[in-house]
Amino acid sequence: MTEVLAEKLSGIEKNFWLPASEILEIAMKFKKEMAEGLSGKSSLKMLRTFLQTADGRETGTFLAIDFGGTNIRLQLVDLFGGGRFEIRKQQSFLLKDPCGAYDYTSQDANAGDLFDFIAIQIANLLEHDSTYPLGHTFSFPCRQIGANRAVLLNWTKEFKTSGVEGQEITGLLERALAKNSLFNVKPVAIINDTTGTLLTAAYCDPCADIGSISGTGHNSCYIEPKEPSSQGPMIINMESGNFNKLPLTYYDKILDQASEKPGEQLLEKAASGRYIGEIFRLILTDLIQQRLLFKEKIPDFVAAADSITAGDLAFMLADETPDLAHISGWLKTNWSVKGLTPEERQALQRIASLVTTRSARLIAATYVGIVRHVDPELNRDHVIGADGSLFEKMPGYVANINNVFKEIYRDNSNRVSLVLTRNGSGIGAAIAAATCMGKGN
Ligand code: BGC
Repeated sequence: MTEVLAEKLSGIEKNFWLPASEILEIAMKFKKEMAEGLSGKSSLKMLRTFLQTADGRETGTFLAIDFGGTNIRLQLVDLFGGGRFEIRKQQSFLLKDPCGAYDYTSQDANAGDLFDFIAIQIANLLEHDSTYPLGHTFSFPCRQIGANRAVLLNWTKEFKTSGVEGQEITGLLERALAKNSLFNVKPVAIINDTTGTLLTAAYCDPCADIGSISGTGHNSCYIEPKEPSSQGPMIINMESGNFNKLPLTYYDKILDQASEKPGEQLLEKAASGRYIGEIFRLILTDLIQQRLLFKEKIPDFVAAADSITAGDLAFMLADETPDLAHISGWLKTNWSVKGLTPEERQALQRIASLVTTRSARLIAATYVGIVRHVDPELNRDHVIGADGSLFEKMPGYVANINNVFKEIYRDNSNRVSLVLTRNGSGIGAAIAAATCMGKGN
């Protein structure tokens, strides 16, 4: 590696590295934003869910919609209680056709088009006329009016469908179901995916009090012991992806300016799967423009925003071959770049690592903030139900979060644990529906 490249890289690394002292600072700011959000205004929306938690006694058969991004999943879920469930049937479909035939996420599509399309997919899944109570996981910031009514405050994840912001989502779905004669499908609960993940974790483990997603988007919820309006426990959807008291780098600022909504979702833009590939691309572009990398041929991704995905970063991090042959192959196949030196390949892996490590440490800082808020002395155990592609598939991601717990809690670090809760959004929708119907159906 040339001296200039090594120097530049360590400079970038320094900006992306968050030592324990900074983690604690971020955690304390997060805790403060939580308190402010509960009583008034802060970057954390602290949205009520009208749900307490699950206790493992939820039973019955439910239809679940998991609407969290461009890929929607429908599931027919049997809950047997005590943490046991079975997915009887499932089907996924895309809101945006990869070949460009349709795009229900674009501004040209409206609320009617979008929910009609979903209702048609539901009709394709269900075979007979029995009644299906439906739990809907709708993973965008919503002001809940009740456990089954939620108004979309604003789209995130670069969605632009017209006429949905400001609308009550269950009503839109009900209209589409009626239009398609699906009178046997009865929406009974609408939740955020973090709530779904927490409910699923709590269905199996009474210590679960935090739910978190790190996939396309990022967000967490938790059980507020004394929610101001009810004075009792309630799950609060923090919309923590919008947290804005965090250190941002030069690259984060460029990304934010080019995004659909500058100034919003700053934590999400620094940490979630939708954006970390782009941060990587911006760093690389900077190095290429300074003629420190890819001197032979400038790869096409330099000019193509969003062309590097979180999956690409996972692939680079997983390359354990001595000469990083997989990274070489990836560059050759996808970007026609050949003849990279071993040092250049190492640089790529190092950048992937610094971007993903920062993401994990940032969100770990928010968990520390939540635990400080609910249990300042750390007197009891806390389980974080976690779902999403970064937890599941990004090499080293969960280990990086656990490292933060060790640095902050030292001997007590086993008091806070992160548990992978796969499919929390789907199962959680069924659990929420069961809860709203008084446990079983
Ligand atoms: C949304 C949240 C959601 C998160 C994870 C964010 O963009 O605003 O509501 O929980 O993504 O899917």
